[in-house]
Amino acid sequence: MYVMPKFVVHGGKPLTGTINVCGSKNAALKALPLALMTKEVIVIKNLPEIEDVFRAGEMLRALGHSVEKRAGGAVGVKQKNSDSTTLPAELVNKFRASIMFVGPLLATRGEARFPHPGGCVIGAGTRPIDLFLGGFEKMGAVLETEDNYYRLTAKKLKGANIFFPTITVTGTESLMMTACLADGITILKNCAMEPEISALADFLNSIGAKINGAGTSTIVIRGVRKMGGGEYEIIPDRIEAGTFATMAAASNSGSVLINNCEPAHLEALWAQFDKAGVNYKLAKNSVKISPSKKIKACGIKTHEYPGFATDLQSAYTVLMTQAEGSSLIHEVIYDRRLLFSDLLTQMGANIIMADPHRVVVEGPTQLFGKKLISPDLRAGMALVIAALIAEGKTEIDNIYQIERGYEDLSGRLRQLGADVERVDS
Ligand code: EPU
Repeated sequence: MYVMPKFVVHGGKPLTGTINVCGSKNAALKALPLALMTKEVIVIKNLPEIEDVFRAGEMLRALGHSVEKRAGGAVGVKQKNSDSTTLPAELVNKFRASIMFVGPLLATRGEARFPHPGGCVIGAGTRPIDLFLGGFEKMGAVLETEDNYYRLTAKKLKGANIFFPTITVTGTESLMMTACLADGITILKNCAMEPEISALADFLNSIGAKINGAGTSTIVIRGVRKMGGGEYEIIPDRIEAGTFATMAAASNSGSVLINNCEPAHLEALWAQFDKAGVNYKLAKNSVKISPSKKIKACGIKTHEYPGFATDLQSAYTVLMTQAEGSSLIHEVIYDRRLLFSDLLTQMGANIIMADPHRVVVEGPTQLFGKKLISPDLRAGMALVIAALIAEGKTEIDNIYQIERGYEDLSGRLRQLGADVERVDS
């Protein structure tokens, strides 16, 4: 019998001490598919040990690559055979970033077959992939659908001029990576500018790609015939760092040092902390959150990088339940990402939903422990934060969703003094 683990949290314990930030999930999920682009060995360092990364490793193996652990927690990836062009449905269903394997397969094997990707249910219906498919078609691929599978084929991809009508992170990364092996020049416009994109481009350039402009809204890629091997160190997870900082601020019970992070990637959060009166101090690779006199309510509007990250919205909403006054949380990017706020209301928060994109939080409120089910990764993490500051016992089920993105969460939180157990239910 498969035993489903859950978190059991006894809230109200002061949080103090140091917590180390892991490698970025959303950088790691691009680093692994990248290995399809070359016959040489790719060594990836600082890879987080999380469920989505395990699934990406399984995907690489299913596509004929060896994935082996190396000294110091690194992973080495090498092509063993290149026969398969189908992404297995059972893996594609588990994480949306599986779409990142499509471009490299198409560019190197001439074909990619895959069902519609799964992942967090945070957008209306299934999250669309039209911008990927349209981009591949512009690069000369032929798209067909058969038996609920997409099939893309191309003898040789060619450079193209592609404008993104909606700013998309993985869309930008996928077409940027794929264009590295296309004939000629690709120009991508209205690109996303997240730090993970620049990190990916830097690594691709180090193994032979010719990419200019990553981290700006226009990226120019000159196609090359082949790519080499190399070593890729995953950047620190800015969402994890921002989440832990927000958690410490919401707990407001002791000093918490968030270590091994890149504070420069979180300027929108620090600007928000300034307005809310959160007591924080930045250093080169860390941030220290100390008790604040008073947290003031102030709203946010999520935005593409460098604006306020949608992935931090749920943690920030919990913080606002502890702030004085009313704050408007405006989730611009996804239309299901505020639905979790109803679970906070069940814990005692005073939150009114204006429409699917906006809630008003009235604070401060005492939260109380509850039995809950994690709806998705970031909402689940917000429930953990709420449980840490709530009075009494909270049980959170469906923690696979949380463990998709946070390594050994209960162990790391216990080191800060939290009373969190991961138990088999
Ligand atoms: N969109 C389309 N068509 C497409 C692709 C996207 O309409 O073909 C829309 C989406 O529906 C959404 C908007 O574009 O409304 C932005 O989505 P984006 O494509 O940027 O999201 P993503 O690349 O799928 C990445 C992260 C998300 C993060 C978003 C926004 C990865 C693996 N995922 O998703 O991370 O929320 O960017 O920053 O990089 C998470 O870590 O919890 C997470 C969901």
